[in-house]
Amino acid sequence: MNSLATIEKEIKRCKKCELWRSKTNYVPGEGSEKADVVFIGEAPGREEDLQGKPFVGNAGKLLTEMIEKIGLSRKDVFIGNVLKCRPPNNRDPLPEEIEACSPYLIRQLEVIEPEIIVCLGRFSASFIFELFGLEFTSISRVKGRVFKVKAWGKDVSIIALYHPAAILYRPQLREKYEMDFAIIGSLIGKNEKVKKMTNSTLFDYLD
Ligand code: URA
Ligand code: SF4
Repeated sequence: MNSLATIEKEIKRCKKCELWRSKTNYVPGEGSEKADVVFIGEAPGREEDLQGKPFVGNAGKLLTEMIEKIGLSRKDVFIGNVLKCRPPNNRDPLPEEIEACSPYLIRQLEVIEPEIIVCLGRFSASFIFELFGLEFTSISRVKGRVFKVKAWGKDVSIIALYHPAAILYRPQLREKYEMDFAIIGSLIGKNEKVKKMTNSTLFDYLD
């Protein structure tokens, strides 16, 4: 039977790629099985590897702040990654690692059936876009745009954003990043600032 707990148990004994050897802890992801919004990163970093939890380092602090700004908390959403083990020195994921690990993420999504999938960074975005039959060009082209797909018999919105670590390196992007998160807030109807925007303003922005 599929539940987040059973998937987590399987992840914690996984040896399907070589990354299990060098990791400290598996990082299956965490949050609500009933989450409307799922955030997907690339792979655990140093702090995540040490704690066994997703997005708990500096990038994670920024992500948590953004989630709270749109009126949600970490436990309302689900936060996961494409890879569940940290690549040595945070190197980019290899195609074979993504292939080996991504079935866990797909099963997690099938359990949660979220309304909104937020891809953080290009590895997450290119994987999710392909999974849902969307064309992925580059993160800078697709970022902040809402793509509607049908999944689990309902409308699902897919949004790609820069990885929060990229915003830590380029603080000048932060204001725009907050606007991108406000879009997520508007989709769940919780963001007063965006709700006050006229539809045409929002449309211009989305364009
Ligand atoms: N970066 C990611 O992509 N995922 C994490 O969990 C932490 C940092
Ligand atoms: Fe298994 Fe994924 Fe870890 Fe590889 S990265 S060992 S596939 S859990």
